Amino acid sequence: MEPRPLAMQVPRFAAPRLLSPSRTVGMNHMKFFIDTASLAQIKEAQDLGVLDGVTTNPSLMAKEGISGEERVRQHYVDICKIVDGPVSAEVISTDYEGMVREGESLAALHPNIVVKVPMIRDGVKALKHFSNKGIKTNCTLVFSAGQALLAAKAGATFVSPFIGRLDDVSTDGVRLIEQIRTIYDNYGYATEILAASVRHPMHIIHCAEVGADVATCPLSAILALFDHPLTTIGLEKFLADHRKAAAVKA
Ligand code: E4P
Repeated sequence: MEPRPLAMQVPRFAAPRLLSPSRTVGMNHMKFFIDTASLAQIKEAQDLGVLDGVTTNPSLMAKEGISGEERVRQHYVDICKIVDGPVSAEVISTDYEGMVREGESLAALHPNIVVKVPMIRDGVKALKHFSNKGIKTNCTLVFSAGQALLAAKAGATFVSPFIGRLDDVSTDGVRLIEQIRTIYDNYGYATEILAASVRHPMHIIHCAEVGADVATCPLSAILALFDHPLTTIGLEKFLADHRKAAAVKA
């Protein structure tokens, strides 16, 4: 990843501070992934013109009723046909050999597949293996800065801190993103910070403030970013004035 220019940033809770000199702002853009296995929602998000990728997990696949190895594999291919960007496909195995076998087979489905691996000992070993082979990875179920450091050291492409689940247990999820940003910038780790378990639009805004590379969001959170009552009222007024002027001229 390219270094970001030095910039002032106002964190949510602390006084303004100067970010690490290795950071540059404006050379990258914040990516939006959609966090679902629903093809209809993925299409809807894709049509908005701001979608960069997709994340799935076994619970999201089950929610769509997708089961059985062949159906699951076909579903990932179908997602890749809709979105031209990273598509995370999670392994079910929890042992090193199983994760490697499953991950290599998932990666062979489509060049955009990112193998999602849980933050466990064998998972970190598997991340290193995939990194050596040039296979993209997403280290999931990350709840601490130490886990994020391990993922980066193993060469993960993305690290997924679960901010909503942390908030659920009275721990500041966005603060974890900020901590990981500082650590990665201190050493120039290229692993992208993918804020996961995003629940609402303010999560997205706060993640953007502290420099997450990606937010993976439910469609509802992305759609909520569009809305502001003053936009609605302002547009109504513009159009009403236009109609009035047209009526006077006629
Ligand atoms: C995505 O990669 C994660 O699996 C997902 O964001 C978890 O979200 P949840 O905490 O809402 O289940």
